[in-house]
Amino acid sequence: MGEVTAAAEETIRKQRQLVFAVNGRRFEVSDSDVDPCTTLLDFLRYHTPFKSVKLGCGEGGCGACVVLLSKYDPVLDQVEDYSVSSCLTLLCSVNGCSITTAEGVGNSKDGFHPIQERFAGFHASQCGFCTPGMCVSLFSALVNADKNIDRPEPRPGFSKLTVSEAEKAISGNLCRCTGYRPIADVCKSFATDVDMEDLGFNSFWRKGETDQVKLCRLPSYENGKASSKFPEFLKKEINVGANLASKGYHWYSPKSLEQLQSLLPQNEENDGTSMKIVVGNTGMGYYKESEQYDTYIDLKHIPELSIIRKDKTGIEIGAAVTISKVIDALKEENLGDFHLESKTVFQKIADHLEKIASGFVRNSGSIGGNLMMAQRKHFPSDIATILLPLGTTMNIMIGKKLEDLTLEEFLGRPPLDSKSILLSIKIPCWEVRRNASSETDNMLLFETYRAAPRPLGNALPYLNAAFLADVSFGRNSTGVMLNNCQLAFGAYGTKRPIRARKVEEFLTGKFLSVDVLYEAIKLLETIVIPEDDTSSPAYRSSLAVGFLYEFLSPLFHTSTEITGGLPNGYGIKSPTMLSSSKQVIQSSKEYHPVGQPVIKAGAAIQASGEAVFVDDIPTPSNCLYGAFIYSTEPLARVKGIKFKSGSSPVGVTAIISVKDIPGKNLGTSTVFGEEPLYADELTQCAGERIALVVADTQKHADLGANLAVIDYDKENLEPPILSVEEAVERSSFFEVPPFLYPEQVGDFSEGMAEADHKILSAEIKLGSQYYFYMETQTALAMPDEDNTMVVYSSNQCPEFAHDTIAKCLGLPANNIRVLTRRVGGGFGGKALKANSVAVACAVAAYKLQRPVSMYLNRKTDMIMAGGRHPMKVTYSVGFKASGKITALKLDILIDAGAFVDTSVFMPSLMIGPLKKYNWGALNFDIKVCKTNLPSRSSMRAPGEVQGSFIAEAIIEHIASTLSIEVDSVRYINLHTYNSLSFFHKNNAGEPLEYTLPSIWDKLATSSSFFQRIETAKEFNRCNKWRKRGISRVPIVHEVNVRQAPGKVSILKDGSIVVEVGGIELGQGLWTKVKQTTAYALSLIKCGGSENLLEKVRVIQSDTLSLIQGGFTGGSTTSESSCEAVRLCCNVLVERLTALKERLLEQMGPIDWDTLIFQAHFSSVNLSVSSLFIPEASSTHYLNYGAAVEVNLLTGETTILQSDIIYDCGQSLNPAVDLGQIEGAYVQGIGFFMLEEYPTNSDGLVTANGTWTYKIPTVDTIPKQFNVEILNSGHHKNRVLSSKGKSEHCHQIASGEPPLTLAVSVHCATRAAIREAKKQLVSWSGRNESDNSIFQLEVPATMPVVKQQCGLDTIQKFLQWTMAKK
Ligand SMILES: Cc1cc2nc3c(=O)[nH]c(=O)nc-3n(C[C@H](O)[C@H](O)[C@H](O)COP(=O)(O)OP(=O)(O)OC[C@H]3O[C@@H](n4cnc5c(N)ncnc54)[C@H](O)[C@@H]3O)c2cc1C
Ligand code: FES
Ligand code: FES
Repeated sequence: MGEVTAAAEETIRKQRQLVFAVNGRRFEVSDSDVDPCTTLLDFLRYHTPFKSVKLGCGEGGCGACVVLLSKYDPVLDQVEDYSVSSCLTLLCSVNGCSITTAEGVGNSKDGFHPIQERFAGFHASQCGFCTPGMCVSLFSALVNADKNIDRPEPRPGFSKLTVSEAEKAISGNLCRCTGYRPIADVCKSFATDVDMEDLGFNSFWRKGETDQVKLCRLPSYENGKASSKFPEFLKKEINVGANLASKGYHWYSPKSLEQLQSLLPQNEENDGTSMKIVVGNTGMGYYKESEQYDTYIDLKHIPELSIIRKDKTGIEIGAAVTISKVIDALKEENLGDFHLESKTVFQKIADHLEKIASGFVRNSGSIGGNLMMAQRKHFPSDIATILLPLGTTMNIMIGKKLEDLTLEEFLGRPPLDSKSILLSIKIPCWEVRRNASSETDNMLLFETYRAAPRPLGNALPYLNAAFLADVSFGRNSTGVMLNNCQLAFGAYGTKRPIRARKVEEFLTGKFLSVDVLYEAIKLLETIVIPEDDTSSPAYRSSLAVGFLYEFLSPLFHTSTEITGGLPNGYGIKSPTMLSSSKQVIQSSKEYHPVGQPVIKAGAAIQASGEAVFVDDIPTPSNCLYGAFIYSTEPLARVKGIKFKSGSSPVGVTAIISVKDIPGKNLGTSTVFGEEPLYADELTQCAGERIALVVADTQKHADLGANLAVIDYDKENLEPPILSVEEAVERSSFFEVPPFLYPEQVGDFSEGMAEADHKILSAEIKLGSQYYFYMETQTALAMPDEDNTMVVYSSNQCPEFAHDTIAKCLGLPANNIRVLTRRVGGGFGGKALKANSVAVACAVAAYKLQRPVSMYLNRKTDMIMAGGRHPMKVTYSVGFKASGKITALKLDILIDAGAFVDTSVFMPSLMIGPLKKYNWGALNFDIKVCKTNLPSRSSMRAPGEVQGSFIAEAIIEHIASTLSIEVDSVRYINLHTYNSLSFFHKNNAGEPLEYTLPSIWDKLATSSSFFQRIETAKEFNRCNKWRKRGISRVPIVHEVNVRQAPGKVSILKDGSIVVEVGGIELGQGLWTKVKQTTAYALSLIKCGGSENLLEKVRVIQSDTLSLIQGGFTGGSTTSESSCEAVRLCCNVLVERLTALKERLLEQMGPIDWDTLIFQAHFSSVNLSVSSLFIPEASSTHYLNYGAAVEVNLLTGETTILQSDIIYDCGQSLNPAVDLGQIEGAYVQGIGFFMLEEYPTNSDGLVTANGTWTYKIPTVDTIPKQFNVEILNSGHHKNRVLSSKGKSEHCHQIASGEPPLTLAVSVHCATRAAIREAKKQLVSWSGRNESDNSIFQLEVPATMPVVKQQCGLDTIQKFLQWTMAKK
């Protein structure tokens, strides 16, 4: 080797290390320390103190991991900032970049950012797991808007962001708690064009205050305050693009095509090494390859791949250009001298691209990456489809050879090999030849379409399409001639997008007429046919027809007045977002600070990401990590476990299974039954735990578990029970103890005898729902001295986990301590289901005598979770001609799965809410079926949501049978107080307390219900392809308050520490407990005692410090915990009173701090614990109305308005309750409209990630969302009422019942469908009654709704139109 200069050596050294900044701090990683498949998230979470980046999905689908990436361009001296998902971004690709996480946006030490303060003040953070990602997404939007010099200066106090951009900023971020409304308000509060009146309830101002006052009260924001502050030191050492080689791995960042060519394999045979080309690496989100490559080549630094060149022939775009940059380029005003047609085409492509994934994926995902995924792996790409009709060409490099192909040729080739590189694409210009002398006007039409569960994107389409047509309008006639057209369809379950050539040929040269369109559609039906195993195939085909109709039909009615340009108004549209909301709240000062909308405890540190969740706890250096191996068979013997092809997975140290359990094999146990930790002889369901892979990192544990192969044996085993019907056949049931089985009401036969009409043996089926807590199941177990074990668990019932761990380890219970500080969403899923995770960690830690941590990946979590109980219901109901019901009988088969969990409670949980109507007589037979399906557990409003739905489905059925308004059937069957007492026995309360009928009327007035029914009717008369429906439903909710312990201690400095059995799940329990403590201690009435709130700290639950914690759920735990704490405070006040009196006499008025100091001095016991034991349960009433609009072409449902009136009694904290109501309601929308949780034929969950499981997003909530929290008066007597010591805090649960309210969206959808059906009947000339009775499935997804509206509705319409002629 020749002489190497010191400078050259330094350059090489620099190239072999990564240097970047995180929140202004310099990080240097040498190539020996980095494995190129390390993601930025892995690095941040495991190698820096910045834990605000959360792992919610690992697929780019949730936004919990979003960070701001800033790049400095030394030539332009400019910084480029954009958000990316750190779970997909590879660490090696951030060389020279500055990264800002939520802690860097603001924090408790350096000061919070106004974004974070507003998240707190608008009550927009509940569990807080999604909040850091939300904050960074918004921060990124502010940074970019504010540095845009082309925008006018905003109003003082605002940013340059617009309202619509503000809401879109978080459209890719999921939140399972809040229902998004308050988050949207935070975003909008920065927008320069916001109307402050539109911003919802917050702790900054009161309704009616002037804008000026409001602005003063908001944590102030100055335009430009959001900036990424690129560190100066990094500017000096910019050396983008690393070339690293370590541990046999290579990462290259070639800077020219020549360099790239030298790195690619030279011939077909590879040398046994593997290679991966990367740009944004977002493809990993979909393909989740577990393979580790030897060589990575990053294409981002090759100039030819990053160009955007515009000339008069078109736009050439380098393959490595990100989708976001393509959008900007296509939208740019100065699109050269392009013709109007071309500009419109480019604009429409850009509009469509904005629906791909979410901002933070588009910011790093490249156009070339997308097209290569479509080419090589048949990814259902939008880009491939929309570019197909436009004559797009592709420039590829194969080895050293360059080749130009059309997009169609490119897609049609066999998958390109690894040495084929896409260099660029070219979208040609389009213009129509106009002939001034001709008798016709020519026009170019281009439209793109996609039908997906989320209007703003972040969901793959069921089908996408793009159509280009050259049409002429005769100047003297009204006919339109199709001179030429290109029709592309894709993503419908086809390997690649296709051109519908036969249809194109048929249409070419034809005058458009109904007959021609009908023929074209008939032809299209034979072309767009999804491949086998595609879901909803007929629906997807019908979408193709719908879109072609939507494209061509406007041309029928247009005449020569349309000249030049392209019509707007159809095709991809920007959906309208949450337009307004109203919150009516009654707060009271009487028990200050109870009843006040106090900001949630810890909200600001949740927003800055400093709040510590279990997986954020720094683990000791010898910590190991676990990942479950689960069964894929429902019923089989496990003969053995090995790793794929004898491989020995990296980092794996042990496999723990049933034989390693020192005590009893228990995953969960209750008095009703047990579930094993690991399958013993037989697996009982697919998804059951078989063993735990333990490795040095979580990633290695996950990879190890993925490589595990289980050897099953099914010989001589009975077939598994995979349905409730099979369970009945084989009498496989869980026994429900008689005291848990609800009582029958009245005499069914008598009731039936009175009936004029009967519906006999009608059926309803209900599916499951997954919790989708943003933080998956997690625990950390640490062995301690003398055979003790400390377990940190994200858990709704640590007490149960504690017991189970002790039994499983065979140790006395006092050897175990379970600690739970914060849970990133539970919704019932972290009740019993969290225990097995805690127990598994404890067993492994005990066996290996090392700490063991586990954070389930989303897929495993979804496969094991079980979720809500599916059921089959058969009903017979008798009713009068008026709609008055006389008797109802139900046969309910509940699928409980393989283990009992909480399933024995289901019958009583279901029947309570079902009794909201007067059924005359109510008889039922409920069987809790034991199947070989995943064991179901409680999910928010368990049983209740199903009970309420069943009641409404029956009412709807009756109304359809009698052809009368369903609202009147509801009304006529509402209880009188007498019938209420008959049905609800001891729970009915006083006559005055039965407020349902009055709220029913109030809702009609406040939501202009009847007026809106008329408006909807008018709308339906005028619109063929959109129908509206409106509905209101009542809810009756029985509250069962459970016992709860509490402990209050006052420290020497007057600060107060509180422990409660209840767990903070995001529901604001700690906040209410703080308020109650402050109120109850204020009764001592000394100086400063009225302001104790800030002195109270609620601390983590510790099962050794406070026993009998029970479980947190059913939304009543806050109430019981508050009550327990209040009992403690009463004792403290009593103990302090004598001293206070004495001191008063001696020293005159004294303040709180002095009193407490003196009390310590005088040996007053300042720590009290107590156990609250509740009295009987009670019943509450709510009402709800919703209006929806259904698109008949796609089946898309838009919730136009929701009005909730919630008679809540005195709220302990109306801000917290409002959040609970809205959040639960939106979760209910998920259940009724969106979330499918299917299994394969073996019962293995198949919707196992964000790609297939779609929870509501900010664009699927009601456009107008009004909530009124009512205190109707009668509860007042029961809230902290002062009847000596029997007073107690009392308020209705706010977290569960509102979920049930979402049934109204389903009912309103049914009403809209009914209108569509009527129309269809009128076109097909059939008997109306054929169509009016139908069951609408839950969830009513787009395919379901479209199916009900008629898959062939367009064909029917065209036939009818032709027949008319
Ligand atoms: C959550 C999410 C949602 C999405 N939703 C949609 C959607 O609705 N519609 C849609 O169309 N797409 C969607 N996508 C896909 C997205 O557009 C692509 O992931 C992205 O464009 C890929 O670009 P990338 O630079 O990250 O590619 P990478 O992940 O870096 O690469 C992807 C693949 O292409 C290869 N490759 C990349 N560039 C080249 C090249 N120039 N030459 C040869 N090979 C190359 C890589 O080797 C790799 O195999 C979604 C993605 C995510 C993560
Ligand atoms: S964890 Fe990265 S997007 Fe979900
Ligand atoms: S606050 Fe958004 S997920 Fe809990």
